[in-house]
Amino acid sequence: MLNSKYRWFLLGGVSLCGLFLWHNAVGNGAQAGKSERDKYLRSARRETKMLDTLYKTAIVSVTQTYVVDDSSTAAFTTFQPVLKAMKDGKWHEVRLVDGLGEPINPDNSPKDAFEKRAIKEMLSGKEVVDEVEKIDGQEFLRTMTILPMALDKCVLCHENYRGKKIVGGVAFQVPLNRDGE
Ligand code: HEC
Repeated sequence: MLNSKYRWFLLGGVSLCGLFLWHNAVGNGAQAGKSERDKYLRSARRETKMLDTLYKTAIVSVTQTYVVDDSSTAAFTTFQPVLKAMKDGKWHEVRLVDGLGEPINPDNSPKDAFEKRAIKEMLSGKEVVDEVEKIDGQEFLRTMTILPMALDKCVLCHENYRGKKIVGGVAFQVPLNRDGE
C-alpha cells in the first residue's frame, strides 16, 4: 500500500500528464481547423484566378470581334445573363470598378471600404488585393485585380481612359467554404 505522500505524488503526475495530452489534443484540433481554412482560402484564390482569366479573355475577345463604334454593345453588358446566373446560383459575383472618377454607370464607382482601398492599390500598380469578409454568416474571399487599358477600342466608349495605363479593377466575391451545400 502506498503511503499518502506517494499517492498524491502519483495522482499529481497522472493529472499533469492528462493536462498535457488534453492540451496537445486541443492544439492539434486548432491546427487542423487552421489548415482546413487555409485549404478553403487556397481553393477560393485559385477559383478567382481562373475567373479573372476567363472574364478578361472574354472581354477582350468580344470587344475585338463585335465592337465597331460607341453604338456597339459593350462586352460586359453582353455578359449580364451570365453574371446573373452566377449570382443566382451563389457561385460568384463579379463587377467592373472604375478607378478614374468618371464612370459611364455611376454604380460602377468603388462602393465600400474594400473597393475604395483596393482601387487605390490598383492605381499604384498592385495587381491583386484580397481579403476575407463575413457577409450574413458566410465567409467570402473578396478580390480586386488590376484592369488595364487592354485595347485601343476601349476609348471608343471611355474617352476619359485615353492615354491611361490602368483604368480600374475587376472585383470578385467567391464563397470560401461550400462543403455544406
Ligand atoms: C462599346 C462601348 C464600350 C467599349 C468598347 C468598352 N466599354 Fe467599358 N463600359 C461600357 C459601358 C456601357 C459600361 C457601363 C456598363 C454598365 O454598368 O451598365 C462600361 C463599364 C466599364 C467600366 C466600369 C466603369 C464605368 O465606366 O461604368 C470599366 C472599368 C470599363 N468599362 C472598362 C473598359 C475597358 C478596359 C475596355 C476595353 C477593353 C472597355 N471598357 C471597352 C462601354 C464600353
